[in-house]
Amino acid sequence: MKLENPSVQAATLEHFWMPFTANRQFKAAPRLLAKADGMYYWTPDGRQVLDGTAGLWCVNAGHNRKPIVEAVQQQAATMDYAPPFNIGHPLAFDAATVVANLAPSGLQRVFFTNSGSESADTAIKMALAYHRARGEPSRRIIIGRERGYHGVNIGGTMAGGIPGNRKAFPALMAGVDHIRSTHDPARNAFSKGQPAHGAEFADELERLVTFHDASNIAAVIVEPMAGSAGVLIPPKGYLEKIAATCRKHGIVLIFDEVITGFGRLGTPFAAHYFDITPDLLTCAKAINNAAVPMGAVIAKNEIYDTIVNAAPEGQIEFLHGYTYSAHPLACAALLATQRLYVDEQLFARAQAMAPTFEAALHSLRGTRHVIDIRNLGLVGGVELEPRAGAAGRRGFEAHVKCFEAGVLVRFTGDILALSPPLIIAEEQIGRIVETIRGALNSIE
Ligand SMILES: Cc1ncc(COP(=O)(O)O)c(C=O)c1O
Repeated sequence: MKLENPSVQAATLEHFWMPFTANRQFKAAPRLLAKADGMYYWTPDGRQVLDGTAGLWCVNAGHNRKPIVEAVQQQAATMDYAPPFNIGHPLAFDAATVVANLAPSGLQRVFFTNSGSESADTAIKMALAYHRARGEPSRRIIIGRERGYHGVNIGGTMAGGIPGNRKAFPALMAGVDHIRSTHDPARNAFSKGQPAHGAEFADELERLVTFHDASNIAAVIVEPMAGSAGVLIPPKGYLEKIAATCRKHGIVLIFDEVITGFGRLGTPFAAHYFDITPDLLTCAKAINNAAVPMGAVIAKNEIYDTIVNAAPEGQIEFLHGYTYSAHPLACAALLATQRLYVDEQLFARAQAMAPTFEAALHSLRGTRHVIDIRNLGLVGGVELEPRAGAAGRRGFEAHVKCFEAGVLVRFTGDILALSPPLIIAEEQIGRIVETIRGALNSIE
């Protein structure tokens, strides 16, 4: 399918300061998308691009799905906006109920945000407010993990563990520490699914608890499966140990499920996949198929009850919120998206497709430049050997080659990341993998 009237032109590129983009490099050779449908994008000149990344890990039901489009259109024509502070609208409560029903048992209180970054910072504030409400205000330290990504707001930047994202912003927030990343290619390269080695990396949390003392630690925040830093799959037994340590010492466990939420691993949340229930769960992206910006923090009922019941009757209990929390258009998109996930059984579909995806991805073993392949559910990472003196360059070139060949693949440094919409068909998986193979064979 070709775009008949490509109306989007890059008339001028200079004004848009692009996020997480090498602006000068991009503007010298832009890659633009103008239209989307199902598994595909189209460029302004009508070239079809197969979406291997569900946009940015977010369009799980595929693009421009009719029920979602119509729900947003209808809501925009019915009520464009309603304030969320001290007044409500029915869709907000419906949306929260749907999310609560999908969440792990015991986590049934839903706070809406507009992004994954806002969800991370909201969860951190909830953890601090919870300890204060239960009479332990000294618990203020937040522990993250090296190579973790929790967005770009202050809490997420500091709790995050990607050095480049932190180095220009030292000490935005006091009282953070980090356990080491689980990445261990010497023992785990080319693992299929969860690696066998590395549960002991979780012991470092015990070391930090001893070092800081549990009475000073509010929360641990981790992605159950780290996506943005290059698809790092938790070793077998690792998350169980992290959860046990948190439980033992009264530390709030926050799972950042901005990528893993809503079917990416074939289950509603990674919490279900790993059978581990956190105290707070952050999500965004696929919550409404990314049709309208939206995120959420799902809280354990006890956290909500503790914070709410500690405040005098009639007073605002948690002084936090956003103008666009539970935006009507986002809620309408959420309800339509979640209905679509159920109607089309998309989480089960992801689970069923995962072995095909795994086999196809691992067929790249032995291809030029490939030093590791990692996968879980419908997430894959292909790590390339960095070019001497030019780290990240090979990953970027592979991304460009794939795009030119009609496949969208994400790169973070020299790691190619895949996270296709859950509607992907077997032949499309094959096409993505063959395009990557061709790209790697064509670059130095
Ligand atoms: C695990 C995780 N947390 C937080 C975020 C930030 O989300 P957003 O870009 O919506 O702020 C992301 C984004 O990719 C993410 O992967």
